[in-house]
Amino acid sequence: SADQFKKIEKIANFINSNPKAKVVFLVGAGISTACGIPDFRSPETGLYDNLAKLKLPFAEAVFDIDYFRENPQPFYTLAKELYPGNYEPSKFHHLMRVFQDKGRLHRIYTQNIDTLERSAGIRSNLVVEAHGSFAHNHCIDCGMEYPHEFFKQAMSNTAGAFARCKSCEGLIKPKIVFFGENLPSHFFSTWDEDLEQLNENHIVIVAGTSLAVYPFASLPSEIPKSVRRALVNLQKVGDFLASPRKSDIIFNGSSEVAAEELARKLGWLDELESLVEA
Ligand code: OAD
Repeated sequence: SADQFKKIEKIANFINSNPKAKVVFLVGAGISTACGIPDFRSPETGLYDNLAKLKLPFAEAVFDIDYFRENPQPFYTLAKELYPGNYEPSKFHHLMRVFQDKGRLHRIYTQNIDTLERSAGIRSNLVVEAHGSFAHNHCIDCGMEYPHEFFKQAMSNTAGAFARCKSCEGLIKPKIVFFGENLPSHFFSTWDEDLEQLNENHIVIVAGTSLAVYPFASLPSEIPKSVRRALVNLQKVGDFLASPRKSDIIFNGSSEVAAEELARKLGWLDELESLVEA
């Protein structure tokens, strides 16, 4: 609606009026639903509502390290569906790439394991995959590292054998952060560095996340008051609900609609469209 588009205009004005303005994106599964990848917590369409077929004791068990140790099958089933290579980036991913090309991208923190930021051509120093990815694999017992082809092969093994460590027989798992595991240390160190650098020239855009999973969910509350925050999400979530700031910009709607409208208001629609069509 016109009212919602005014929020996008506010974000665009901030960027257009300040040549030094740069964006930090904090994103989640909602920016990839347009690619055909379900999110986790949306009622009916979300993964956690559709895990019944995996016969899990509780939905989040699919990402639980203790459960995985006992029964890796549900994660294998899910991994087959989510494995990178099966999907194309969304408009929102492509818009983040345009921000990079225009020199206006400070950083992307993503909770997603679909690696669509990489597919969209975002440079690796500008993306922090907070919940890891399928790219690196290791033995959950001895830590020995394995190439991703090793897990990929086991995943498509119809006999149902799981990838096991050659030295200790432990299970091999992609370095996706499960419940009960730590986030990569690189996530914490980069966020600390960015907190030092962020100032009134920055805007942090939070998009497509329920802000339900910590520590990622606490990032918005750690943003200094001098730094503008924006939310692009179907609902108001997290700190935008709990501790709203007067300067917050909240767009309630689809991140795809927001991406196109933001590109239009920034005068970047041609760039966005050529990436979408490529
Ligand atoms: P959730 O499924 O919890 O939240 C997705 C959010 O995006 C919800 O608030 C949706 O309403 C919103 N949304 C969906 N489609 C949208 C669209 N087209 N435009 C705008 N908003 C949309 O997903 P995350 O917050 O990413 O952990 O979940 C966080 C973590 O929980 C994930 O990283 C995952 C999971 O356990 C791992 O994969 C290890």
